[in-house]
Amino acid sequence: AERLACIRLLPKAELHLHIEGSLEPELMFQLAERNAIQLPYASVDALRQAYQFHNLQEFLDLYYQGMSVLQTEQDFYDLTWAYLQRSAAEGVIHVEIFFDPQGHLQRGVDFSVQIEGIYRALCDGETQLGISFRLILSFLRHLSEQSAFETLELAMPWLNRIDGVGLDSSELGHPPEKFARVFARCRELGLRVTAHAGEEGPPEYVWQALDLLKVQRIDHGNRALEDEVLIERLRNEQIPLTVCPLSNLKLCVVEDMSQHPILKLLDAGLRVTVNSDDPAYFGGYLQDNFAALLAHLPITDAQILQLIRNSFIGSWLSDSEKQACL
Ligand code: ADE
Ligand code: ZN
Repeated sequence: AERLACIRLLPKAELHLHIEGSLEPELMFQLAERNAIQLPYASVDALRQAYQFHNLQEFLDLYYQGMSVLQTEQDFYDLTWAYLQRSAAEGVIHVEIFFDPQGHLQRGVDFSVQIEGIYRALCDGETQLGISFRLILSFLRHLSEQSAFETLELAMPWLNRIDGVGLDSSELGHPPEKFARVFARCRELGLRVTAHAGEEGPPEYVWQALDLLKVQRIDHGNRALEDEVLIERLRNEQIPLTVCPLSNLKLCVVEDMSQHPILKLLDAGLRVTVNSDDPAYFGGYLQDNFAALLAHLPITDAQILQLIRNSFIGSWLSDSEKQACL
């Protein structure tokens, strides 16, 4: 309990957070009512009951359904503000959040509505809560290359507010190579690049993310452990891995928290960070993820401090900003 209290007090960064995945059932019901949308659940409790997943896709189905209540700029603001308030209370001082524009465009919600709401909350978070931020546009990999290019086109007027791009959604069957040209264009535009890889997908997808997308981070990366040569590459280049313990448990990427590979990844010398991914769906925010590690793994104080330091080192803050946090 004392160690957890210390972790809460330590300044931390979160690098892998889908803002739509922070939509708590209570807020989902409020927004559904505000927008006169009928949810297929009788109550907040019934909705929470449904959060039992056997794999990534089962989660994604509810995640895309859940985000349908997000309609107005104010909805996106309220969503983002709620996440920032919770994070501030846990000692988070820097966040790099994903949003999934295609998940909203498909429903007729303009790019401007999404980004205006999210960005206004992020700015308020910076001034009122002291949380610095980066914003990451994430492409949905189950959609086409063309759809990603169209989304990038819609984002062009807003590139001064977007720091980088990511790649998420259904991993199996949608290898990074599908988006090599989109990511090349994003890099030309000066955007930073990251991608989900090795969550459910094989080590080959992590190789592709590195070699074809030329990513600066890997989101998840668990399955890299199946490939020694890949581990060596990740260690040599000190590629940050944004690992998400509670997510891995809820999506059955690991059988049990005591089986989580995070200590193996750390022991292999990789730049591992702890993150919450989709906290409203996976049973907790950043602090809860640390609590789960402490409860089930023989993690040392030095390892905890390393994970927290890595969250700044692996961030997209400038070197001088990082120095101020380390
Ligand atoms: N979208 C939201 N969370 C995700 C995850 N953990 N993996 C892939 N796509 C996602
Ligand atoms: Zn994710």
